[in-house]
Amino acid sequence: SGTVRRTADGSLEVGGLDARALASAYGTPVYVLDEADVRARARAFVTAFTGAFADLAGADVYYASKALASVAVDRWVHEEGMSVDVSTGGELAVALRAGVPGGAIALHGNNKSDGELERALRAGVGRIVVDSLEEVDRLADLAGELGMGAPVMVRVTTGVHAGGHDFIATAHEDQKFGLSLASGAARRAVDAVLARPELTLLGLHSHIGSQILDLSGFEVAAGALLRLRAEVAGDSGTLMPELDLGGGYGISYTGTDAPPPPEQVATALADVVRRACEELGTPPPRVSVEPGRAVVGPAGLTLYRVGTVKPVVLDDGGERRYVSVDGGMSDNIRTALYDADYTATLAGRRSEAPAVASRVVGKHCESGDVVVRDVLLPGDVSRGDLLAVPATGAYGRSMASNYNLVPRPGVLAVRDGQARFVVRPETEDDLLALDVG
Ligand code: LLP
Repeated sequence: SGTVRRTADGSLEVGGLDARALASAYGTPVYVLDEADVRARARAFVTAFTGAFADLAGADVYYASKALASVAVDRWVHEEGMSVDVSTGGELAVALRAGVPGGAIALHGNNKSDGELERALRAGVGRIVVDSLEEVDRLADLAGELGMGAPVMVRVTTGVHAGGHDFIATAHEDQKFGLSLASGAARRAVDAVLARPELTLLGLHSHIGSQILDLSGFEVAAGALLRLRAEVAGDSGTLMPELDLGGGYGISYTGTDAPPPPEQVATALADVVRRACEELGTPPPRVSVEPGRAVVGPAGLTLYRVGTVKPVVLDDGGERRYVSVDGGMSDNIRTALYDADYTATLAGRRSEAPAVASRVVGKHCESGDVVVRDVLLPGDVSRGDLLAVPATGAYGRSMASNYNLVPRPGVLAVRDGQARFVVRPETEDDLLALDVG
């Protein structure tokens, strides 16, 4: 990531701070988040999209805060020009505490509670993305009771299947999100919104998946949404002013993937919108996107301390080192859940020892507790060594658990040689305090 480098003696340095010093001062495991890198990535998205859409109707970039919802992160990205996408009351509370104005917040979710909708309305959120016909009327009724209007987008399932893993692909037909374009449910939802005076129809929304490296799915989805928008304009006279193309931009986890940079993404999407609107004869909408992973993922790494190393003889006669660290599936579930690839690197010293096939595993009570499935590590890695696993800024802390009653690590922000926890590490006392039996 941005400000990670090796010092002369081979130690890793992040945000101007030595990994050894961070580990001894703040403990391990710890998520280390490079503030300058998060800010730079946020700014790059904002600059790219506002630039590419300047000659259309403009663009907004929302940070999908599910990737890492923290007050500091929401504040940083908002300062860099992003709005914030929240998918629960908890993420909404964090964004509001970060000082993000309601108007710059979007509320998502396929099963929002009445309480969440009411809090969002009272906060004056800029958009609520409705995800079912039932929700349209429930939201309209609630807005009416509160004497407020509600700005609405309709989440459309375009049928595009994209992304890294079935669990995170979200726009094919047979899954829980959105209203289907093919079956006519999306159009029915649009008409239902138009029929309710409490609701203002801002536009259509689509999120096709996550960890996407190929832009063609976005282009197909954008085309489909713009056709529906033109159809609605023709039938009802209402030209929706906005279009949201969701998030999902992939990152490099191990150095082998080459994700398109934000300018390339923005230019490709602007070209599709321009062309489709010309063909359809409709003025272009203001476009928004919602990157999460691409903003924080590469800016975070996890530091672990090695506890024990065990060689295992494989069926083919080869050997694999099981390198056990002081965290595991409770701080990074992605390897076990999605078969995700990560890499690891020795963080506290240089080693000239020949590399050996290694697997980085955690301290939990199951064999699926793997952090890095396959990595070549120096053969002398041993107890006390520090390991860094890069690209853990997104969906690490936000999906962490207390399995085996392991306290969740804190998020340590580093910048210009200064470090501070922006999410403090849990303690056993925190966990015991919840157990009131
Ligand atoms: N917008 C919507 C409506 C979403 O559902 C999502 C992600 C995003 C934006 C942001 O997607 P991103 O840019 O971060 O890919 N836990 C999974 C990822 C789940 C993503 C869910 N929705 C993982 O660890 O890979």
